[in-house]
This record gives sequence, structure tokens and C-alpha cells, in this order.
Amino acid sequence: MADFVGAVDQGTTSTRFMIFDHGGNEVGRHQLEHQQILPRAGWVEHNPLEIWERTQTVVRTALNTNSLAAGDLAALGITNQRETTVVWNRRTGRPYYNAIVWQDTRTDRIASALERDGRGEVIRRKAGLPPATYFSGGKIQWILENVDGVLSAAERGEAIFGNTDTWLLWHLTGGTDGGAHVTDPTNASRTMLMNLATLDWDDELLSFFGIPRAMLPRIVPSSDPDAYGVTLPNGPFAGAVPITGDLGDQQAATVGQVCFAPGEAKNTYGTGNFMLLNTGSEIVRSEAGLLTTVCYQFAGQPPVYALEGSIAVTGSAVQWLRDQLKIISSAGQSEDLARQVDDNGGVYFVPAFSGLFAPYWRSDARGAIVGLSRYNTDGHIARATLEAICYQSRDVAEAMAQDSGVTLECLKVDGGVTVNDLCMQLQADILGVPVSRPVVAETTALGAAYAAGLAVGFWRDTEELRENWNESRRWQPSWSSEQRAVGYAGWRKAVQRTLDWVD
Ligand code: G3P
Repeated sequence: MADFVGAVDQGTTSTRFMIFDHGGNEVGRHQLEHQQILPRAGWVEHNPLEIWERTQTVVRTALNTNSLAAGDLAALGITNQRETTVVWNRRTGRPYYNAIVWQDTRTDRIASALERDGRGEVIRRKAGLPPATYFSGGKIQWILENVDGVLSAAERGEAIFGNTDTWLLWHLTGGTDGGAHVTDPTNASRTMLMNLATLDWDDELLSFFGIPRAMLPRIVPSSDPDAYGVTLPNGPFAGAVPITGDLGDQQAATVGQVCFAPGEAKNTYGTGNFMLLNTGSEIVRSEAGLLTTVCYQFAGQPPVYALEGSIAVTGSAVQWLRDQLKIISSAGQSEDLARQVDDNGGVYFVPAFSGLFAPYWRSDARGAIVGLSRYNTDGHIARATLEAICYQSRDVAEAMAQDSGVTLECLKVDGGVTVNDLCMQLQADILGVPVSRPVVAETTALGAAYAAGLAVGFWRDTEELRENWNESRRWQPSWSSEQRAVGYAGWRKAVQRTLDWVD
């Protein structure tokens, strides 16, 4: 068998290709950003053709610079930004419209109508999701209603939908008509269209959005030796690599963090934050504002579910300090600036740029910086931004404890922001539990590689994967419980302001 497994990680801001060995160690990678298209306030789009082009380049570059070829890869896994919606023509492979990104709030009216007339309850029950702009269903409906000719093409089965996993799988395996039109249950569980119990598209849910079934991909297991096909010899791999794994990026990170037992959780710090708690074969309904989602499904095995706390804006709040406020010139500088002050100086920043996701689910909320006095400096703003990342995670952890009865004893973390030492220390302080980061911080790509490698026997079982997990760093809480309580009360007050802003 070949020595390595590859993974394409198609994320919100960039696409990367990574190669791992049997020990789960990184062997090579290449990564490229793509354009964030912001046509109006609240709208966020990507160009799907640019994403496909970047994917080809990162694959070719990583293989070439490491002198590797298709034959060196035992399998390929795909992982992706979830919910982001692409509709394209089955014959030409051309998109009808830009990809509408998960952060985009243009479907606000669609989501609030669902909530008003009782359909929201059905969506909660069947799909495990609150009606929100976040998910794909409303985005597909928007394209069907607003882009000329798409509805009739969809009814003829010519216009087809996919998240970016499906979009890339389609191109990697065929491009036009021959391409696999498939997705996995973790991605499908983010559409408001899939029934969590049957893992199939649900006709009643489809009718809520006026979506013809013919445009939807086939749902196949997240790890499967046969369901996805092989890469085209004339594609970026220049050879036939079996594609055997597909997971939404947050579920992939959960697999990469080897959270295979019920009660195990991870928190990923990227553009947003996503905390997932494995709940095993049980579909746990949230009373506290979390999502119920599929964690993974390996071929021949029952699905594993998770509770998820999704936070829209965390790392992207740091980018906002850099790109809009211009008080730092790189994301890393946020730590230096925040270290210039001893505490937040009474300032709280609630970065509700896309409304507030879990546990509030208020798409009408807008951001606020509160508690300012003349004493405050840009250092306090930077510190409040890092604290906001951690306080939002505390909100989600509280909701998880309420829904599942599981109180975290240690939080496993990964993602770009975890290189920020101060932020991780604040996370331990604000949660009051230790925070632990693994040696391989690229757990998203690693999880996709694991799903792919398990399907072809590159890894024997999940126990073997557990042996690959090693801690690189642990942060212990240092705040007193009173300090923690006072800080959190201030945060809750600040959140209330963002909810009061619109009535
Ligand atoms: O649900 C959105 C999430 O999948 C995006 O993750 O890492 O691409 O920002 P990321």
C-alpha cells in the first residue's frame, strides 16, 4: 500500500492540500486564499471556479514540491466549509451564481418566515436545526427565486446543488455529466433538508423551500471505499487516487481530535468557532440553543451524532481589527497589543457581525463595543476581542452542559487562533478548565485523511488513530472563581445590548 493519505481542506478563506503519513504527521502542504466577495452589507460570496482552480494548484504544488505522485497516496479525503451553497449546470459544470457563503444573511426574511408560521418547529424536529440564514436550504431557495432560468433547469434535473465538497468531488471525478454528485451526512445535516433519523432528504422539508429533489446530491457515508469514485488521470493528481472520505470541516476536526466516544468534545478556532460534543448514536435535541448534527458515518456502521455550538465571528473579529479598524497589521499582533494592558479595562466587544449564532440564534443582532471610557486604549479593544472569542465559547459550553449533562473537564482545541498564547490562557481562565492543544494542530485536514484512510485499511480502526494524538501544550486556569463570575456577568450584559439594538 502507498505510504501517504491526502486531504483537500476547502475552507472559508483558503483551500489547502495536505499529505499525512501513517503516524498522522504532516508530510507536505500547500495553501491558497480566495477572494471574499462582499457585494452588499450582510452578503458574502465566493467564486466557485476560483475555488476549483485554487484546489488544482494547491494539489499540484504540494505533490511537486514533495516529489510525490498519485501512486504515493493510498486515498484522498475531502473536507469543506459547510453550508456554503453552489448551484451549477450538470452539462457544462458552470455555476449559475457565485457560492453563497455560510456567513451571508440575505435569507433573513426566508428564515424569519419559517419561524413565524410553525415550519420552524418541523425543521427543528426533523433536521435538528433552528431556521437561520446560516444553513443551505434558504440559500438554495434564494438562488431558485432570484437567478433567471435556474428553477426550470432544476426541475429538469439540469441545475444541481452542492456544498463545496460536492462541487470539488464533481470536478475531481469527472467535471461534466460523469462526475460523482454526492455528499456525506455531515454536510447534508447542515441544509435544513435532511432528516437526521433517516439520513435522507425529506420531502416535507424540501417543500418548505420549493427545492426539487432532482437537484440534490446522493448522501453516502463519510468514510466509504466505493461511494465517491477516483480522481481523473487528467486532473490535478495526474492519476487515479481513490476518494474515500468526505466530512464537513468541523466534523472532520472532531475526527482529527479523535473524539470518538460520547462525551468527548473539541473546539476549533477559525473564522468562527465551532464546539462539537460527540453524543454517540443518540440524537440529542437541544433545549439550550445548540444544533443537533451528524458527527460522522463510517460505511457499514450506524451514524454518530453531535451537539454543536456554532459561533460565526471569532478569528474574523481579529481580521476586522486588522483590515477595518487597522489597529494591528497582522493577526499575530493582536496578542502583543492585548498584552500591553492588564485586563479589559471594562470594555466588552460583541462581534455580532452576522447576527449571533449559538446559543442565541438572532440574525438581527448587530455588533457592539461597550463599557468605553476615556481611559481605554487600542490595547483594551484588542484584549476585549480575544476575550470575546473565549466568552462566546463559554456561552456554548454552558449550553452544552445544560443539554447533555456533560461538564467539560478539559477542552481540546485546534485551529489558527490557538497559536495565540494569551487567547488560550484567557480561554482557560474564562471557562475554568484546562485547555489542551495537540501536536498536529491541522486537525480538520487530518480528520478528512483519517476518514479516507480508514475506508481503505490504511488505518485499522479508531483505536489506532487515538495512538496518533499527542498533546503539545496545556493552559491551566489562573483566575479566581469570583473574577470569572464578574467577567462573565459583564459579557452577558454586553450581549444583551446587541440583542436590544434591534427590537
Ligand atoms: O459552518 C461553517 C464552517 O464549516 C466554516 O469553517 O473553518 O472554513 O471557517 P471555516
